[in-house]
Amino acid sequence: MRVIIEKDAQAASERAAKLIADSLVTKPDFVLGLATGSTPLGIYEALIRKHNDGKLDFSNVTSFNLDEYVGLGPADPNSYRYFMQESLFNHINIPPENTNVPDGRALDFATYCQQYERKIVEAGGIDLQLLGIGRDGHIAFNEPGSSLGSRTRLKTLTSETIRDNSRFFGGIENVPRLAITMGVGTILETRKCLLVAFGENKAHAISQAIEGAVTAQVTASALQLHPDVTVVIDEDAGRHLKRKSYYAEVEESHRLLESN
Ligand code: F6R
Repeated sequence: MRVIIEKDAQAASERAAKLIADSLVTKPDFVLGLATGSTPLGIYEALIRKHNDGKLDFSNVTSFNLDEYVGLGPADPNSYRYFMQESLFNHINIPPENTNVPDGRALDFATYCQQYERKIVEAGGIDLQLLGIGRDGHIAFNEPGSSLGSRTRLKTLTSETIRDNSRFFGGIENVPRLAITMGVGTILETRKCLLVAFGENKAHAISQAIEGAVTAQVTASALQLHPDVTVVIDEDAGRHLKRKSYYAEVEESHRLLESN
């Protein structure tokens, strides 16, 4: 696991966007896993800027989003499909038919979730998965206690997640209780993961995920089992990490190797 600590959220967003952009140019038919929430917004702005500068072409890219609220359709401003259209897809040249966000209005969820998994496999698997982290250590909507082998399925949100996300819904009572989410097992099969977090309110979850034991109680800790994970955080989110000086030494080694 490579841990990159930047000064603030803006520097960390730029760094994460550069890592994504550098990966995208190596493979035109890239399969990109995307996340929603507050964390990726600066990254999406940076990717849009790179696209507008002619440095990033999404015309052969396929995307898969991690999750969606049950019951919300694409026209609902709180749906993750709507969020993705507004924050990224409408501003880049990704073909609409190449963008995949789980359908919160699926009729038969069990079959639909299996189809979502199959679609990822048929696309060749996810090359890079962008991830945020919840204060309870969740990745996607894999709440504490989720199986570390779980696949795409319905998940009941915890009261903590419902409270955290109520800022978008104008009240706790309006937040859906269920979501479709890729599983931890689905995420562990991606070729590369990029975990991003900003702010002190993520510091505890980040230290548990990176330096704590691997446990289903902190599903992000399962990333310790993934062979290729980069974590990009700001100083506030890294506040409780114990091995910061080592992470800085590793970054210095990377810089030396890259300059040779
Ligand atoms: C969203 C997702 C969630 C968020 C997490 C952090 O697609 O999968 O795991 O990444 O809840 O949300 P923010 O970024 O809003 O703090």
